[in-house]
Amino acid sequence: MTPSVQALVLVGGKGTRLRPLTLSAPKPMLPTAGAPFLTHLLSRIREAGITDVVLGTSYQAQVFAEHYGDGSSLGLNLTYITEEQPLGTGGGIRNVYDALTADTVLVFNGDVLGGTDIRDVVQTHRESAAEVTLHLVRVKDPRAFGCVPTDASGRVTAFLEKTQDPPTNQINAGTYVFNRSVIGEIPSGRPVSVEREVFPSLLAQGRHIHAHVDDAYWRDMGTPEDFVRGSADLVRGIAPSPALDKACGESLVLDGANVGRGAVLIGGTVVGRGATIGAGARLDGAVVFDGASIDAGAVVERSIVGFDARVGEGALVRDTVIGDRASIGARCELLRGARVWPEVTIPENGIRFSTDV
Ligand code: GDD
Ligand code: MG
Repeated sequence: MTPSVQALVLVGGKGTRLRPLTLSAPKPMLPTAGAPFLTHLLSRIREAGITDVVLGTSYQAQVFAEHYGDGSSLGLNLTYITEEQPLGTGGGIRNVYDALTADTVLVFNGDVLGGTDIRDVVQTHRESAAEVTLHLVRVKDPRAFGCVPTDASGRVTAFLEKTQDPPTNQINAGTYVFNRSVIGEIPSGRPVSVEREVFPSLLAQGRHIHAHVDDAYWRDMGTPEDFVRGSADLVRGIAPSPALDKACGESLVLDGANVGRGAVLIGGTVVGRGATIGAGARLDGAVVFDGASIDAGAVVERSIVGFDARVGEGALVRDTVIGDRASIGARCELLRGARVWPEVTIPENGIRFSTDV
């Protein structure tokens, strides 16, 4: 990739759908397969030969700089541009305009796990000579995304953000190639949505926005369900990441973790650094953050267990998010989208979904 391509990663969102985990860390910094989620995306950007990367921060901005510094550990030259008040996706792009030196700017939503070769998206942009190129993927239910119909030549004909009545299953995958001058046209100094304002207005002016459509791995990590699936896919090698040495198999146990006798770890489970898994516990698609403990005989399925949290003996935790340092008493049952706030203690047998204690 020529040095004339720069990247911007938007990481300023509050991550509300992942609360309470995002009360203490911004969404892109939550651990997935042993690294902050953002590390997987930054490694893909580096792999495409791009070294100049701007992070557009707002919520908990300092966390990114504390972790990545100048980016040299990833082979990147990282700079940070912070919005004091969140400016939205379009406002966040406009806000970095003065820091852009390249003519071609790749913009990434910071919460997407993808397998697309970034160079191919830039190539499509060059070949079509469009002013903006959008990476699109096909999904079963487009309603939670930006729906993007195209014509036979691959030109974008409309941009319909989160519509209840999508005309196609092609959606915005959250990676854009912009000619730098177009970014300069975005209104400055106020919140702007790139999806609801910038793209529709460019199309209304008859400007050329092109599509790069492919079937590579793709997942937005913004909900607990997707976060758990994406993390498991990284562990099992279904989602590629240059930040992982190799696909690890059914589970990944990080340094200093302790796994008791007869414990079963499957479904892409991750056991964080210094975490403890008791004898006979069963973890299936579990994401256990550093320092957490799962006591003997507990069952954790498709759930996230926050930093230093505890799941007591014989408890059942399924499709649940447990906040940092929360403590779930022995034989509790937490199911179907339950969310436990940080520090909360639930006593033994304190919550159950059945009557046989
Ligand atoms: N700098 C900055 N400022 N970044 C922001 C702001 C802001 O005010 N608001 C959101 N972001 C960042 C988030 O951190 C995230 O990385 C990205 O912008 C997208 O925001 P989400 O909140 O995750 O949006 P979404 O998932 O509902 O929808 C977006 O992504 C979908 C694909 O994953 C849209 O772009 C959809 O059209 C798209 O289909
Ligand atoms: Mg998202």
